[in-house]
Amino acid sequence: MTGNSSSLFPRNFKKSFPIAVRGEGSWIISSDGRKFLDASGQAAVVNIGHGVREIAEAMAEQASQIAFAHTTQFHSGSAERLAARLLALAPLNFKNGRVYFTSGGSEATETAIKLVRQFHLESGAPEKFRVVSRRQSYHGSTLGAMSVSGNVARRAPYQPLLAEWGHIAPCFCYHCPFGKTFPSCNVACADDLESFLSNNNAASVSAFVFEPVVGATLGAAAPPDGYVQRISEICRKRGILLIADEIMTGMGRTGKPFAVQHWNVEPDLILIGKGVASGYAPLGAVLISSRVAGVFAKGSGSFQHGFTYQAHPVSTAAGNAVLDYIEEHQLFGRVPLIANELRAGLASLPLHANVGEIRGPGLLLGIEFVKDKTAREPFPREESIAEKIRQACFDRGVLTYPTQGCVDGVRGDHLLLAPPFTVSTEEVAIISSAIHHSVAQVFSS
Ligand SMILES: Cc1ncc(COP(=O)(O)O)c(C=O)c1O
Repeated sequence: MTGNSSSLFPRNFKKSFPIAVRGEGSWIISSDGRKFLDASGQAAVVNIGHGVREIAEAMAEQASQIAFAHTTQFHSGSAERLAARLLALAPLNFKNGRVYFTSGGSEATETAIKLVRQFHLESGAPEKFRVVSRRQSYHGSTLGAMSVSGNVARRAPYQPLLAEWGHIAPCFCYHCPFGKTFPSCNVACADDLESFLSNNNAASVSAFVFEPVVGATLGAAAPPDGYVQRISEICRKRGILLIADEIMTGMGRTGKPFAVQHWNVEPDLILIGKGVASGYAPLGAVLISSRVAGVFAKGSGSFQHGFTYQAHPVSTAAGNAVLDYIEEHQLFGRVPLIANELRAGLASLPLHANVGEIRGPGLLLGIEFVKDKTAREPFPREESIAEKIRQACFDRGVLTYPTQGCVDGVRGDHLLLAPPFTVSTEEVAIISSAIHHSVAQVFSS
């Protein structure tokens, strides 16, 4: 629908948006009859595909039993069941932990920032309140979540409104902020947390939050072995809580239920959103380890925080139905297999002079485009390379997630691919063909 005939305040007044009327598996169908292959799961949300009838039926069943009861007065069976199932999937220190459900990722980050503050108050450390994070990261769009985010473009208009708690270097081997190479770097980027704390009033720091694999901002940049372990050790030694933001990477997208499980690390809190209800309902959550939950239970007993729609019965019913579907079709195990097919389809892409790197675990893949491959030099921002490739893929009926700024917050073009775990071999072939042709088209014009 074009800008002038819409009553919605859009993401972009200069664009027109098709109306999505139906979803079938990996496909979205618009009101004008076009079919789009959803190679990005929208924004790494749609883990089990569109239009799965069982999920709609489970939501309708819950809504017809009871749609809402306020959490100051009632718990719901669907929220209780999903909480127990999520804790069972998490690292061992979440056994006997608790889950705080929200309506999305930003609310989960916001909840975590307040929860770690109150944890330290309850533990007799009232001086602790700052949540340290990394440059070149994204944790959500509300003001607390934006304060910990290090995404330059998304922060820029709101700079005067944001708390300044401190950001350390990103972990990004393709454009190492220290100009080093793994393994001789000895993961200097992890030690940047130690140096930062030594020089910036460590006593006031409550937590460190990080994306185990940086999604939108860096295009699926995974850390080398040793990084997450070292970060975790520093946090333990300094009495700082570790928050893993798995809003994009959680619920199986990287090939394990949670990405931290690739490195056997036990964070204190895990944030999830996006794929937990696969887009069928707004849902996010903070998974709280038993140690942290225990401090609240033995202390004041009450967290000074709350949302009217937290732990919504219909959203958590959607979450349960999505997890049932994942278990029934063994989709966590399918991710590495179908991801290998996608990788194989894209294997010759880095031979192109302007494709710098394909990176990322499981079904979270980033493709970075460079002007000069030897120097890893990005294109000028004005050339809008990522957007041009997205448009060329869109014209071929394939949806991708483009972003700029991975190099320095301004320059650096990449495309994110995050198709549903159910994507077929034939669909993977369509995605890789669209990308090969779009790259050839954009760089030959
Ligand atoms: C890592 C990460 N954290 C937080 C968020 C914010 O989640 P939401 O958009 O559901 O508020 C996102 C969304 O893109 C994300 O990728």
